Amino acid sequence: MSNNYFGSTFFGVARRNDFVSAVHSLLNSLRPEWQRGVFAGDNLITFGKNLSFRFDQPFMKALEEHASDGVEKSIIWRTAILVWAARNGLRREGDFVECGCYRGTSSRIICDAVEFNRTDRTFYLYDIFDYPDGSTHTKMPGMGPQLYDEVCRKFETIPRSRVIKGKVPEILTSDSPDRIAFLHIDMNNVAAEIGALDLLFERVTPGGMIVLDDYGYLPYRAQRDAERQWFAERGYDVMELPTGQGLVIK
Ligand SMILES: C[S@@+](CC[C@H](N)C(=O)[O-])C[C@H]1O[C@@H](n2cnc3c(N)ncnc32)[C@H](O)[C@@H]1O
Repeated sequence: MSNNYFGSTFFGVARRNDFVSAVHSLLNSLRPEWQRGVFAGDNLITFGKNLSFRFDQPFMKALEEHASDGVEKSIIWRTAILVWAARNGLRREGDFVECGCYRGTSSRIICDAVEFNRTDRTFYLYDIFDYPDGSTHTKMPGMGPQLYDEVCRKFETIPRSRVIKGKVPEILTSDSPDRIAFLHIDMNNVAAEIGALDLLFERVTPGGMIVLDDYGYLPYRAQRDAERQWFAERGYDVMELPTGQGLVIK
């Protein structure tokens, strides 16, 4: 096999070794000429595809530099979608926004892949970063009082980035851009995501790109239902991508 990608992360798998060997045996049952262009990772298994993003040099270079663990590497196709959306966002007026930046990995990859420093835009990155007692958001590795500083350091070389510690949607009322060309919402939190849409959608420039992470992931069905209805009420149909993201072009 050549040009194939096997990630190390699948969500919901109980017996990883059994699962991975079953995937290999499934792919080995294909005709040899179809045992190429295989992608397996992030709950997506496909074959005979061009996987064009793997030949996108700026994207691959940025990914190699900034994706540090198995999850960040395995979500390569999702990250490629973000880079595609960000590049297309550059054709529209406005700033870039990520609600729920966590370690900042996806946005940092975007900055390199689209040469963000050559633009005159600002990248707004929001997160709570910490997990104090009584928190209700999903706990993730590395969250704590130090994470904000770590993410600030990651964006030190992106002068027009703003790493903002605070809770969405509340923080958006005091510190957010007027015009948005690219909006990534990834908080695994229905109320926060709908709150972000309530405040920011109007500011997205026509033709601006909106990516909703986890929209297609079954464990986040409540999020999908709320967002689907929210967009339907405004005359938009969200595209559920095979990567598990939702896509809207305003
Ligand atoms: C899945 S992670 C984001 C991953 C990141 N977008 C990436 O691509 O690497 C979800 C993040 O949302 C943040 N979050 C959850 N609820 C939030 C809220 N109300 N306001 C701000 N951030 C929130 C969490 O702190 C967490 O870091």
